[in-house]
Amino acid sequence: MIWFIAEDCAYYQDLDSLQSQHNLDKIISLPSEADIATHLGGKVGFIAPFYPPKHIRSLFVIKSLPNKFGVLTTQEQHAGVPESKALETRLGLSVINSPFTLADVGGAQTLKDFTRELLIAESKGFRAKGVFLVGVPGTGKTFFPKCFAGETKRLLIQLNLTLIMEAQEPIDKLNSVFEYLTNRHEQHPDERFVLLIDEIEKMIGNAEAVEKRMLGRLLTVLNDMHTPAAEYKFDAIFFATANNLNSILDNNPELLRRGRFDELFFISLPSVEMAKGVFEIYLSKLKIKDELEQVMTLDNILTQIEQAYQKDNNDPDKFPYTSAEIETFCKKLAFYKLVYGEINIDHILNTIRLIIPIIKSAQEGINRMLAQKELFLLV
Ligand SMILES: Nc1ncnc2c1ncn2[C@@H]1O[C@H](COP(=O)(O)OP(=O)(O)OP(=O)(O)O)[C@@H](O)[C@H]1O
Ligand SMILES: [Mg+2]
Repeated sequence: MIWFIAEDCAYYQDLDSLQSQHNLDKIISLPSEADIATHLGGKVGFIAPFYPPKHIRSLFVIKSLPNKFGVLTTQEQHAGVPESKALETRLGLSVINSPFTLADVGGAQTLKDFTRELLIAESKGFRAKGVFLVGVPGTGKTFFPKCFAGETKRLLIQLNLTLIMEAQEPIDKLNSVFEYLTNRHEQHPDERFVLLIDEIEKMIGNAEAVEKRMLGRLLTVLNDMHTPAAEYKFDAIFFATANNLNSILDNNPELLRRGRFDELFFISLPSVEMAKGVFEIYLSKLKIKDELEQVMTLDNILTQIEQAYQKDNNDPDKFPYTSAEIETFCKKLAFYKLVYGEINIDHILNTIRLIIPIIKSAQEGINRMLAQKELFLLV
């Protein structure tokens, strides 16, 4: 018996043509278990936007029917739903034309150099697989791929793993993502992507069977990508990021086998020099650099922050704030400027007191994370 999965209402309005196409006596829409029991073994098809119940699934050949307007169903097309919205809710994909470039990234020189080399190699025929980024929260693991996408004028495709894992059939959902990208590539062969699988432990952080199968599927796609055997054909560089490496190392260490990705990087706290670069980026963006320097020099601000928090930092070569904390610091000063029309010394000292670095507030967890850095290339 055939079970059609259809989200497009057009199929339900014209069951006759589906019936004759598949040479069936009858098609029952949205069947109950009683309907199924009555028609067992007959030349009957069933159609619904959901899968058959798990315990009787093996009775059916399951066929997914494509939407009539690409990503959009007929009902969405009529209601004027934008394609980007449908992509997000249906496939868990956000497609972004990133406004950032590598000039927005402070430091991360090793990573910048490596991705530059990757692009040169690509232009000479090398097919990049992807880059794995792990490390301390707020150090740019998600931000870097965004900037790389903008720099290289590739579309950033970000996978919402929570939505994919919550699907009735997560593997079908993952396959639909790759099918969508393949179709898109056929229609626009020049389009190139950066595919960001952010916080990958959401997908494979446990040892459950479905997670193992998801990982298997992902690794097959990663390994075959750009080879003649590839099932899906599209032009993408993968970035995968992880926060909680322990769960991956415990449950799915095969993800990190050398050769899966082009390179694995650990992004740590910034060096003092890099921290200064990040301050400069944000103070300039917020247009408060000159005013601030008249109240207190940047070097002095860095020293004050080190005096307040360096005792909580196990690594004396690194600055205690992450890049995200530096950004927050600068935005707080811009906020004072907006409210009071000026930035004074109390605003600066207050901001230092207010922004307690993650290496202090989550010391144990961060130190556990830092202990893993030997496994990776350092940024
Ligand atoms: N190297 C950097 N240069 C400039 N800004 C940065 C840098 N790293 C991070 N930021 C800023 O900090 C914000 C947070 O960084 P991001 O989301 O990339 O952190 P993350 O490493 O992914 O953290 P998490 O592990 O919590 O997901 C970014 O949106 C960006 O504005
Ligand atoms: Mg992140």
